[in-house]
Amino acid sequence: MKQLHIEKMLNEKGYIEETIDPGLKLVEEIKRLKKEKNAVILSHFYVEGELQDIADYVGDSLGLAQAAAKVDADIIVFVGVHFMAETAKIINPDKKVILPDLKASCSLAESAPADKFAAFKAQYPDHKVITYVNATAALKTMSDIVCTSANAQKIVDSFPADEKLIFAPDKNLGNYINSITGRSMVLWDGACMVHEKYSVEKIIDLMDKNPDAEFIAHPECEKPVLLLAKHIGSTTALLNYVQSSEAKKFIVATESGILHQMTKACPDKVFIPAPSNDSTCACNDCEYMKLNSLQKLYICLKHEQPEVTLPQDVIEKARIPIQRMLEISK
Ligand code: 13P
Ligand code: SF4
Repeated sequence: MKQLHIEKMLNEKGYIEETIDPGLKLVEEIKRLKKEKNAVILSHFYVEGELQDIADYVGDSLGLAQAAAKVDADIIVFVGVHFMAETAKIINPDKKVILPDLKASCSLAESAPADKFAAFKAQYPDHKVITYVNATAALKTMSDIVCTSANAQKIVDSFPADEKLIFAPDKNLGNYINSITGRSMVLWDGACMVHEKYSVEKIIDLMDKNPDAEFIAHPECEKPVLLLAKHIGSTTALLNYVQSSEAKKFIVATESGILHQMTKACPDKVFIPAPSNDSTCACNDCEYMKLNSLQKLYICLKHEQPEVTLPQDVIEKARIPIQRMLEISK
């Protein structure tokens, strides 16, 4: 009966709803449960600071996939979004992978349903497929290799110059890689709902008002935004850049969670979130990443649910392009 109730809740809400004693010290409880269950917590830079601070490893998508490949714990708690937890499961099919909220999706992953992508791919039978890691496991099964924003150029460069390539699902990252490699990869029409909202006009205005600030951007941003940037890179690359740059002020065009690490690494520097074209939303926050919370993390560890599972054949097929990426990125 209890199991049925939990399953129903997971279908409807994506997480188990439970009243938590307000006196409970959540951080301490999470650490206790983690030890008791031999679990490891992997968090992405885009989740809330308190969820980054409790992690055994915090990083960008590449760092997290590499960390997942080294895990020897029994349970991986992925504090991020669903495609990241799927990747961890594909790399660790015998381990239990849990995600605090099953509905933590991604606009890029959702932009490329497997059936539509299969039809698209069929139009280019002589093309190899490079899939940005922000995609479903089903899409990865149709791919020759996976990449992240940190290694996309390296992965593309690993193909002969005359190889015909499809890049999916992020058209902005694909466009950017085309521009720096001189390729003309065929692009799937997907975008990140956070990175496509930045306003060029407002960024220029902010740069004018802060002439001492450097503007830095994630390659998921649109081309007009990237053209303004002093430095373009994955979240880890941006974090490294602010530490090595002599500038004291930065305008940052990526999800707001990274500001937590930037401020920790450089407490004497100022970080300004880049403005978006919609003043009515908290547009620098990824609504999916922000579905994670300390409460949901605690409940998820306690019940070891929601669990991310995949059919065996999907795991086997999707593992090949992921392993290729990990090999090249060593
Ligand atoms: P990285 O983790 O590669 O910087 O990508 C950012 C992102 O959008 C993850 O969802
Ligand atoms: Fe997806 Fe964008 Fe959110 Fe990353 S920030 S999980 S790419 S919607």
